[in-house]
Amino acid sequence: MDKSERLRVLGVIREHIANKTTADAGGIMRVPMSDFTCRQLSAQEQDVLFRSTPLCMGLSSALPEPGTYWSDNETGIPILMVRDGEGRFRAYANVCRHRGAQVAPEGRGSKARFMCPYHAWTYGIDGKLMSINKKSHFGNVCREELSLFELPSAELHGTLWVRPVQGEPIDEAECLGGLEDDMAHWKLADFPFAHTQIIDARANWKMAIDTFAENYHVSILHAETVGKEMKANVQTCDVFRKNVRFVYPNQKLDLMRFLSVDMERWPYPQIASTLYYLYPNVIMVVDTFGVDLVRIFPLEGSPSKSRTVHTWYVSPQMEPRLKEAGYSYEERVTRFRDVIVDEDYETIAKIQLNAERGIQSEWLLGRNEVALHHIHNALRSGLGRDLLPVEEM
Ligand code: FES
Ligand SMILES: [Fe+2]
Repeated sequence: MDKSERLRVLGVIREHIANKTTADAGGIMRVPMSDFTCRQLSAQEQDVLFRSTPLCMGLSSALPEPGTYWSDNETGIPILMVRDGEGRFRAYANVCRHRGAQVAPEGRGSKARFMCPYHAWTYGIDGKLMSINKKSHFGNVCREELSLFELPSAELHGTLWVRPVQGEPIDEAECLGGLEDDMAHWKLADFPFAHTQIIDARANWKMAIDTFAENYHVSILHAETVGKEMKANVQTCDVFRKNVRFVYPNQKLDLMRFLSVDMERWPYPQIASTLYYLYPNVIMVVDTFGVDLVRIFPLEGSPSKSRTVHTWYVSPQMEPRLKEAGYSYEERVTRFRDVIVDEDYETIAKIQLNAERGIQSEWLLGRNEVALHHIHNALRSGLGRDLLPVEEM
């Protein structure tokens, strides 16, 4: 997001505040509750959105140097991501070519080679099979043909993308289409990995995404927590193909207005949080402290359970100051977790239950819940489903 775009966005927010308006979808939208409960749809989502679609897995700094690895099972496919000897980002199915055991342990670390814990076949960081334990038992099988299955991967402006099944290479435009400049300007590769946590919810994964994508609720549901800092029901919304950028101002923005500070001098990240929805399942929040990358998945193939993997990458400008001040990274992610678990996910768990009981047949999305209009239709379009109409009023 370059300076002129930041100024444009701040100008839009200033107008909204002055006129008591917000980004407007031009009408309302009705989302059938079956979108959150249907098992058949859930299976289709798993197949299309979490198998053949490229997924944003994290920022480049999750694999800081050659020889570092990260294995992740959240997509439903065990994925081993590495930075190889040449510093290239690569991804493999974390599945041994002997009898299918998981080759690399869960989590992140650094290794010169991966020894399968079952019968000790050993693979290099380049995915090649280096040795077969007691090779004579396998006749003349060809080692060269038994590399780990490589998955399409791409490192795009500091973000890491993987298609969880083998196939077409990843096309940059398919992932970031239109957001390349934004991502490049944040210099995301410079944000060090700080902390990660997993949060499970008894609610559909799309409901969990929706909690991040409007700030209509923040002064109500979060009245005692983040609602004290954020300005409620004022946001921008810009669509970039399947992705969306929405900017939430916070209370400090009023100070700039009241003190008549020239907008050119408004300290952008201190007065506004920039959020991105990265199709199909990621919310990225950029603020003064860094980047929160929130990846949301259906859990156990169920339409009514989801898993949120939250990873915080700290701002390179803030990192030395936070360290010097003894700031606890763990405390920060715990605070983030408490708001989500006790407020957002507690609420959507009840909504999910009621959806399953058939009490309500549809959701009404207001004109002000504009990013949600887009997200639901982007996902429908990705599955070849009919788009939901915007009912003008
Ligand atoms: S399954 Fe990996 S060595 Fe046997
Ligand atoms: Fe919320």
